[in-house]
Amino acid sequence: MLSELPLFPVGASTIAPQVDALYLFMVGLALFFSVLIAGLIVYFAIRYRRRAPDEIGVAATGGLILETAWSVIPLVIVLFIFVWGAAVFFAMARPPADTLTIYVVGKQWMWKFQHAAGQQEINELHVPVGRPVKILMTSQDVIHDLFVPAFRVKADVLPGRYTTLWFEATRTGQYRLFCAEYCGTKHSGMTGWVYVMEPHEYQAWLAGGVTGSLASSGEKLFQDLACNTCHLPDTQGRGPMLHNLFGSTVLLATGEKVVADESYLRESILTPRARLTAGFEPLMPTFQGLVSEEDVLQLVEYIKTLKK
Ligand code: CUA
Repeated sequence: MLSELPLFPVGASTIAPQVDALYLFMVGLALFFSVLIAGLIVYFAIRYRRRAPDEIGVAATGGLILETAWSVIPLVIVLFIFVWGAAVFFAMARPPADTLTIYVVGKQWMWKFQHAAGQQEINELHVPVGRPVKILMTSQDVIHDLFVPAFRVKADVLPGRYTTLWFEATRTGQYRLFCAEYCGTKHSGMTGWVYVMEPHEYQAWLAGGVTGSLASSGEKLFQDLACNTCHLPDTQGRGPMLHNLFGSTVLLATGEKVVADESYLRESILTPRARLTAGFEPLMPTFQGLVSEEDVLQLVEYIKTLKK
């Protein structure tokens, strides 16, 4: 409703005060110089106005101190803003080590969130308060962009790759989420709500109406797609063993090394030959078109659980 569209959104995440401080500093700086410059224009126009019709102005020559000052002072100010902005950016770009990971697939025109425990929701996202949450995002079609003004976080959601965004909510409540990238006819309707809950409420919510965890759906898919016939739980398979793979460093056939993160697992499912593991034949068929982005997330979540 319109009454819930304030001029300045409430701040409800740990990063919000940092973003606000930088923003208000820049607004204050702009106001200061606007008033100063506009004021000086008016003052000088009056002070140095032509007083007689035949009056000729004095020719102005350079003033080294003045020119140096008006170059160096703005340089220092913009570099200060750059360093400050970079610090906030790094804080936003680097999730803490222990996060709760929630997956989202953007599609024309909805957000589909999936929790590791199995809960799925559309255009709604339930998260606990006071816990860092990492959103692993991909799109099934065009570029979307997940934006939660109250958390001051916003990131593109791209087809064909994973991007992440993280936040830690600081107060319970209901906050707007938007798609902030024009993505077609119903872009403006691609909105939803984030519900920040007390941890025990979140646990209770998670437990309700679930058919199975993301990993267990992934395990079923792993068997349905016959992945298990080549990826054996030992090193005897025709494909690499997947136990303890997630997070480890993989030696590729090209001699390069890559960390087996979510993006690498996704790529290896969809285009297995792109980065082939050293010592294996390019036998694996592509699963492009056979599995949806949600299926890929389930498989990735299953592979994460394979540990010895
Ligand atoms: Cu999705 Cu705009």
